[in-house]
Order: sequence, then structure tokens, then C-alpha cells
Amino acid sequence: MMQLIDIELHNESDLLDNTILSQIENNELHLERVKAGDKRYENSLGWHNVDEWAGEEQLEYYEEISYKVKKDADVLVVVGVGGSNQSARAVYEALDPKTGPELIWLGNNLSVHSIDNVMKSIKGRSTYVNVISKSFETIEPGVGFRVMRNYLKTTYGKDYSSRVICTGTIGTKLEALAIDQKYSFLTFPKNIGGRFDAISPVGLFPLAVAGIDIYGLAHGASAMRNLLMNTSGLDNAALLYATVRNQLYKMGFRIEMLSFFEPRLMRFAKWWIQLYGESEGKDGKGIFPAMGSFSEDLHSLGQYIQEGSKILYETFININETELRCIHSDLDDGFKYIDNKDISDINKAAYKATLNAHSRRFPCFTINLPSLNAEALGQMFYFFEFACYLSCEILGVNPFSQSGVETYKKDMFKLLGKQ
Ligand code: PA5
Repeated sequence: MMQLIDIELHNESDLLDNTILSQIENNELHLERVKAGDKRYENSLGWHNVDEWAGEEQLEYYEEISYKVKKDADVLVVVGVGGSNQSARAVYEALDPKTGPELIWLGNNLSVHSIDNVMKSIKGRSTYVNVISKSFETIEPGVGFRVMRNYLKTTYGKDYSSRVICTGTIGTKLEALAIDQKYSFLTFPKNIGGRFDAISPVGLFPLAVAGIDIYGLAHGASAMRNLLMNTSGLDNAALLYATVRNQLYKMGFRIEMLSFFEPRLMRFAKWWIQLYGESEGKDGKGIFPAMGSFSEDLHSLGQYIQEGSKILYETFININETELRCIHSDLDDGFKYIDNKDISDINKAAYKATLNAHSRRFPCFTINLPSLNAEALGQMFYFFEFACYLSCEILGVNPFSQSGVETYKKDMFKLLGKQ
């Protein structure tokens, strides 16, 4: 039986009054729409029913294609940016598998230094490439794929094609290239936008290569779907989260921090930042998503959070399991109070103290994970996606558009002479 994550609201500050209950009631209508999937967004809801792109047969297929790569590769270079690489990277860095081929990330920036580092780290190692792009018009993966094609051709000659797996949309230039050059091809779901594609071939294929339990991810997402589709009112954690954050927004809270005491979650937070930033930040509205990697950032942002402008609130991710590691000292180093304590206990104490101190100032959420594994991450992906769709409905913005990211691109293309 899968252990479910749970979401708690801490309201020590008493900023939220009883009106939140009536707002939850009012937002039930939005919840029902989100459960049903709004007709307006039917071309963006391929993630809503997990089985559409991550049913048992598809999972077997992703495993099957990953098998050859897994057997032969030391490294899989994942070329993609934004929605095309964030979820896989989030899981890979959170679970840190170290059993299968290493995943290395390229095509997510335009830094020569970063590209050189990737090239240095793959030298002499059996290398495969998974290029992921929905549009194949994005410049970062375009550049990254060129770099990797040149490298593979020089290193492996004519046979280089068998080392390339494209995840792209039917009818794009990437598909044409794949046919022409005989690359393997996985379909990028037409009905899923980048930031919602974690539980689809986009996120799951590279993770299967790395030996991550993709069944756990998909089953976790399905379990969360089941819960959110079959609950309402205060029992529906997405309704509570979306209602409270919209109320806080109305009260002037403009920033939500996703805070965690496990630095392995930094990439997960980056995924979350994209999901909420790109979905809500439009029409002059939206909460700005930020992250706090604690306890480190308590020594920088902690001051602002506790006593600065009252514009932010926090959502903590708390992992319940502990890893035991006790440290003794024969010397009087001034830390006698940690004698015989495990480092995890000290970390937990830092979390509890931070939550107490911060929640006296503003309401905080905690997402409690029984442990940090594929199932819990699958649940978190689905929870945040569903809640994001709902939160956008309450805010009155289209969750699935991102016209704002095109503005700078027009100027850049002009500078580069793109026709
Ligand atoms: O969420 C999104 O749609 C974006 O972040 C895209 O994923 C990102 O721009 C990459 O686009 P593409 O997959 O077309 O290269």
C-alpha cells in the first residue's frame, strides 16, 4: 500500500480568518471544473489522466527503449530546456541513483563554459543523446544538439545515429531529421505543454535510462489524482492550497517560497518555479515563486523572511524519514549540546524551529513526504500541477499559455538575423 504525502496548513499568525472556509465553499465550482477538465483547454490536458501517457503499456515501452541505452552507455546527454528537461532533472537530482548511466544536461543555456564542461565530462565515455523539444524552434537545444551531433559523428562515425533518441512532436523539423538520419523517435505529447510533462515520455524516458523507478513515479501521480478527484472541501488538499494562496495574494502577499532542508530538492524547486511562474504570471497578476534551500539560505534570506517586507509566505517540504549519522567529539569544541544526536535530528530541529518562527509571521504550508522516493515525487508532480490549474482558475488566468516568453525571443531572432 502506497504511503501518501499530506499537506498541512500552519496558521499561527492568525492572518487567515473564517472567511477562508466560505472561500473554499465558493471555489468548489472551480474544483469541479478542474476535475472535469475545461473544454477550452482540451489540447493542454494530456497530463490530467495519468494513464494517457504513462499507462502500463507505455511504461513498458519506455523501459524497453531505455534498455539498449542502459546496457551500452556510460552517459546519456539530455538536450532540452524548460519543460523539456526540468522534471527529469528534478527527479534525477533528488534520488541521485548512481546505478545506471549518468545523465548530463545540455541545451539549457548558451554558456560556452557550460558546454565545454559537458564535453570534458563525456570524453572517453560511451555517450548517447536524448534531444527533447516540443517545437524544435528553441535556440538552446538547437545549439546543444548541433554540438552533440558533431561530437558523436567525429567519435562514432556513420554509426552515430544509433546513439540519438529524439523526443519531439510529429510534423516538426525534429521528426524530419529523425527520419532522415535514422534516429530513434519518441512522441512528445501534442496535448501536454512543457511544464506539465513530467509523467510522460519527456520526463520518464531519460529517467528509465538512469535506472529510476518510472512505475513508482506514474503510480504516485495516479494515487494523487485518485485522491484529488474523489475529495472535496477541506479534504481536498489542492482546493485548500489554491484557495489559501489566492487569499494571501489578495492580502498583498506577492511571493511564495518553496523551502526545504534537503538540497537534493533544489532542482525540484526549479521545476515548481517554472510551473507556477509560467502558468500564473500573466495579465499583470500572479504570485512570484521563489525557493529557500535551508538551512543554508536561513543564513542569508532568513533575516528578510523574519523581519523584512511582509510580502512572502512559505511552503515547506518536510521528509519524515531520517538518515542516521551521529558525530562525536573528544574535544571541547563548544557544541556539547549536539553530543549523541544524529545530524538528521539536528536538521529536523532546524526545520521545526524555522516553521515555528516563520508561521508566527505568516501562514505556512508543509508537504510531508513519508520518504524521498519515486512514488512521493510522482505524487508531488501531480499535486502541484492539479493545484496550479485550479489556482489559475481562481485567479482568472489561462494556466497553459506563455505568450510572455516570446517577447525577448523576437528581438533575439532579429539580432541573429533569423528569417
Ligand atoms: O513550458 C514550456 O512550454 C516551456 O518551458 C518549454 O518547455 C521550453 O521553452 C522548451 O520548449 P521546446 O520543448 O519547444 O524546446
